[in-house]
Amino acid sequence: MGKKSTTSVNKSKEKRQARKLEQHRIADGMSFVTAANKLKDLAPLCKELLVYSNLEIVIDMSIHRVTELDKEVLYWAIDLTERNMKKLYETCVWGWNKERKVEEMSDDAAWYLIARDNNKKLQAFSHFRFDMDFGEPVLYCYEVQIEEGERRRGLGQHLMRVLERLAQATHMRCVRLTALTHNPSAAAFFKACGYSIDETSPSKEDSAHYEILSKATDNTEECVA
Ligand SMILES: CC(C)(COP(=O)(O)OP(=O)(O)OC[C@H]1O[C@@H](n2cnc3c(N)ncnc32)[C@H](O)[C@@H]1OP(=O)(O)O)[C@@H](O)C(=O)NCCC(=O)NCCS
Repeated sequence: MGKKSTTSVNKSKEKRQARKLEQHRIADGMSFVTAANKLKDLAPLCKELLVYSNLEIVIDMSIHRVTELDKEVLYWAIDLTERNMKKLYETCVWGWNKERKVEEMSDDAAWYLIARDNNKKLQAFSHFRFDMDFGEPVLYCYEVQIEEGERRRGLGQHLMRVLERLAQATHMRCVRLTALTHNPSAAAFFKACGYSIDETSPSKEDSAHYEILSKATDNTEECVA
């Protein structure tokens, strides 16, 4: 058996080190996700953002695990999602499957940001999760849904700001989400909020009906997989 050259020994050493670093990075990410999901109350992380007001609206927000969310509020969120999204789902290969949506929205990993006006009327929500995605700790925004009459008043953008603060405070790398490509108002909205195509998004050649968008937290330069 021949002796390995110094170059090849160095190369395998580098590879081993890179693998170790990657393992550490993933282990750190997983511990951040576990820690975020163990938090009893997320409100202290974004307290000053939980009231939103302008000349048109005054909104109070609260954050709940789905397991602690009032069932009536969850049913309203499911109903609002159906009212806002059913047609869009029906016009792509996903189709609208209410049972699957209810299951997703009721999953124990789900967190809810709930927005009510000063008459306590439910006006908007976001379903989000702290999760590992492509080896990174991310705050994944599953839904952001606003009642029709409350749109274009800055509320959607404010909800995203709350999610971004939570992602930052819990050491997530970014806020990531899936957007349907045939939902132009959502595309304009996320662009206005500073979201761009994520590295994990399907390529243009795949002509997928969805894309993955993200906005990095200050914990990282960019959100890369
Ligand atoms: C998309 C959605 C969340 C936006 O919420 P919103 O509260 O109306 O958005 P904001 O008022 O914060 O808008 C911020 C900026 O986004 C852009 N924007 C928002 N809605 C837009 C629309 N329909 N068309 C073009 N640009 C839009 C604008 O630049 C806007 O700023 P401006 O009003 O000063 O021009 C809301 O329209 C909605 O719930 N839609 C149905 C559900 C949905 O598509 N959700 C997203 C996918 S999960």
